[in-house]
Amino acid sequence: MEKIPAHIAIIMDGNGRWAKAQGKDRCDGHIEGVVSVKACIKAALKRGVRYLTLYAFSTENWGRPQAEVDALMQLFCASVTKETPELVEQGVQVRIIGRRDRFSEEVRERLLHIEESTAGGNKLTLVLAFDYSSKDELVRATRKVAEMVQNGKLKAEEIDDKIISAHLDTADMPDPDLIIRTSGECRLSNFMLWQASYAEMYFPQTMWPDFREEAFDKALEVYSERERRYGLL
Ligand code: FPP
Repeated sequence: MEKIPAHIAIIMDGNGRWAKAQGKDRCDGHIEGVVSVKACIKAALKRGVRYLTLYAFSTENWGRPQAEVDALMQLFCASVTKETPELVEQGVQVRIIGRRDRFSEEVRERLLHIEESTAGGNKLTLVLAFDYSSKDELVRATRKVAEMVQNGKLKAEEIDDKIISAHLDTADMPDPDLIIRTSGECRLSNFMLWQASYAEMYFPQTMWPDFREEAFDKALEVYSERERRYGLL
């Protein structure tokens, strides 16, 4: 493979449709989706991808039926706890982006625990977007920058794209080179709108629970054939 993206961000979509097609409950799709998460982490490590961002729960997902929200929260808690030792062994550092204030104390603690336990990982940064949306992130960043102006720490005319980037949840991470959304939907749904400026997009038909190593490698192959010009000739 010629060009390996430093940062791949994935909108994991299609768990519900996958489950329905199998005559199963939607939550079975999410459970099978965790197997794909593990497969993609392994594939990313194998191929030398440095950052892997996964959109696990959007700010809009709170509007799903309470039973599904509860099941997802339980799945996150169980998965992050169960997988922490293996992630440490693999050299994976976990970072969480999004809001924290709407989670239960238990979820907040587990998220903090996985971040602290994996802080020494230096092979792959796994960025989990939980209660994340891009507009919410931009609003929070804008408030922080406005406060700096209000407190006289920054002049309005000094605000540039670097200042904005530095106040996003993704500060000090490279922008994604490749954004993948599974299940054939072709939209970003409030995900990394600022960071996506020059990302390549890939929308495979594969449902997330079927997105394993082979599908990951196919995405790398598609990316390596793209020509990125960044607005130049
Ligand atoms: C979208 O599919 C998927 C989600 C809202 C949840 C994704 C979560 C996981 C795969 C679990 C990941 C766990 C960790 C610890 C990262 P959908 O339900 O919208 O599918 P549909 O469009 O077919 O209904």
